[in-house]
Amino acid sequence: MINFPKILFNKRSGKLEAILLAITIFLTTLTLIFAYIAYTERKKRERALATLRLNRPKEEKISQKIDNTKLLARALSLIREGIVVMDPYGRIIFTNKFARELLDIHPEDIGKFFYQAIRNFDVISMINESFNEKYRAWQEKKIKDKYVQIIFGSDMDEKVLLLIDLTPIKKYENLKKDFIANVSHELKTPVAAMKLSLETLEEECRDKPEAEKFLRKAIERVNYMEQLIEDLITLSMLESVNFPVKIVEIKLKPFVERVVHDLSEFAEKKEVKIEIEIPEEALIKADEKIFHAIMKNLIDNAIKYNREGGNVVVGFRDLTREVEIYVCDTGPGIPKSHIPFIFERFYRVERSRSRKLGGTGLGLSIVKLAIERLRGKVEVESEEGKGTCFKIYLPKS
Ligand SMILES: Nc1ncnc2c1ncn2[C@@H]1O[C@H](COP(=O)(O)OP(=O)(O)OP(=O)(O)O)[C@@H](O)[C@H]1O
Ligand SMILES: [Mg+2]
Repeated sequence: MINFPKILFNKRSGKLEAILLAITIFLTTLTLIFAYIAYTERKKRERALATLRLNRPKEEKISQKIDNTKLLARALSLIREGIVVMDPYGRIIFTNKFARELLDIHPEDIGKFFYQAIRNFDVISMINESFNEKYRAWQEKKIKDKYVQIIFGSDMDEKVLLLIDLTPIKKYENLKKDFIANVSHELKTPVAAMKLSLETLEEECRDKPEAEKFLRKAIERVNYMEQLIEDLITLSMLESVNFPVKIVEIKLKPFVERVVHDLSEFAEKKEVKIEIEIPEEALIKADEKIFHAIMKNLIDNAIKYNREGGNVVVGFRDLTREVEIYVCDTGPGIPKSHIPFIFERFYRVERSRSRKLGGTGLGLSIVKLAIERLRGKVEVESEEGKGTCFKIYLPKS
């Protein structure tokens, strides 16, 4: 009984404690909830601010990009090269003014496939041909009134067609070529007249050895000038786009026999023997005048750069798609380091020796140009001290 109120008191204080504890827990939880809400709100605000901060420069960058694109397009419209940019599927993304004018692309063609937008069949076939290639360049093409070099380049993302206007260079080159051709033609007659006068004088001076010696030298120089003029005329003829290439069937053996016959005096003087290893039935397809220039120059070289008593062989091989004609000699050969240059104009391996032999240094450049006009190719094999073989390949059709 004595402990009853204490117990009562204890019971009450235990309840109080429990209530206080519950309130404390409730308040702590509430505080925590508020703190959490405040924390997440702050984080949200911070994130929003960060996004805002991030977005602002992005917008600025985009507007700068748009300006740059416009600027680039304006700059590209001023240049004399044509540019067509396509997506990986061949849809036009960008064209500049020169390309639009040349290929008749309309402004509303952006987004269309190149074969719908470009109104030039040749260019469409060129893109088709090289669509999956990384790089391709074509020889100049005439489009409308312009000479254009076409280059196609491609990577994973874009394909670009570049049109380079060669018209001004071409005009200048043509002027130069015309000038050389005209001068050569103008010089031909007076040089021939001079040669005739010198030859007559030489006859008159038979009994004056000193005078005859000088005249002989003068005639040699005139002969050189005559050859030079002849070679320059042949070169400008081969370079001229107006020169018609007439491909006909040629019986090779009699044709080569005629060339050899024309050079027989020279060969006899050098004591060089010429063998023709060509079957009777051998036929080739070429322009007679052009093919004559090739054979004359190659056989002339094979005699000229041969040893005394040496040999020249002119032969023929029938290959699958082309024919091979070779001219081999037993001369001193051409040093390897000189071979890449011998087809250049006025290039001579031994300047003094070649000049003494009456060479102008234009013969092989004529050969190279002539073979290009016949859509063929030329190769050289040479061994110093043994001889040289020039091989030309001509298409069968
Ligand atoms: N068969 C050959 N053997 C050795 N060297 C050669 C042969 N053919 C050409 N060459 C060398 O190449 C050079 C260039 O030959 P190219 O025919 O162009 O000129 P060229 O014979 O000197 O003069 P051109 O033929 O105009 O009268 C020659 O000067 C010569 O040095
Ligand atoms: Mg020559």
